Amino acid sequence: MLEHLTVVTHPLVQHKLTLMRDKDASTNSFRRLLREISQLLAYEITREMEMTTRRIQTPLCEMDAPVIDGKKLALISILRAGNGLLDGVLELIPAARVGFVGLYRDEATLQPVQYYYKVPAGLEDRLVIALDPMLATGNSSAAAVDLLKKSGARNIRFMCLLAAPEGVARMKEAHPDVPIVTAAVDERLNEHGYIVPGLGDAGDRMFGTK
Ligand code: URA
Repeated sequence: MLEHLTVVTHPLVQHKLTLMRDKDASTNSFRRLLREISQLLAYEITREMEMTTRRIQTPLCEMDAPVIDGKKLALISILRAGNGLLDGVLELIPAARVGFVGLYRDEATLQPVQYYYKVPAGLEDRLVIALDPMLATGNSSAAAVDLLKKSGARNIRFMCLLAAPEGVARMKEAHPDVPIVTAAVDERLNEHGYIVPGLGDAGDRMFGTK
């Protein structure tokens, strides 16, 4: 079983994350680094997938060779920044089904409001990996996982690049059954809900919208 929180401390991940944090990293390199890290995080988050064997014939003999068991994964991008993780994970797991959850924060109530929701059928039989680079307050992540559970998902994991302690605590309280895999847990959130030291607005940095 994955722990509730796994921080991937591998030197490749940490080095690439440092390059991404640098405010002078270009949009192009930010996006490329995010794609590369997403594949290293995917390696960790899929570590305990169920396996079976398939009888195959090598050039020398027959063997029962290991293959992934069960239905395909479902990757769920939490819009819009989740798409930055999605691209890389899909390169590694091209047969995965893909869903999207769109939530925005109502500035009056500060609560997440759903504006888009489209997920693959049969979530109850799939390993579902929710993708959002920044686990900040945890409110939208917890709301996204609520929606996935309402759609039947029972085996959910959450992949992010950076987490704040507040977001990790919120997810643990709301969804203790959902393991989180991240590259780092930073110090805190600031008064605007940004992760500090962080890397700024992940969506703006990957899409060049600021
Ligand atoms: N979302 C971001 O893009 N960055 C943060 O620091 C927090 C939330």
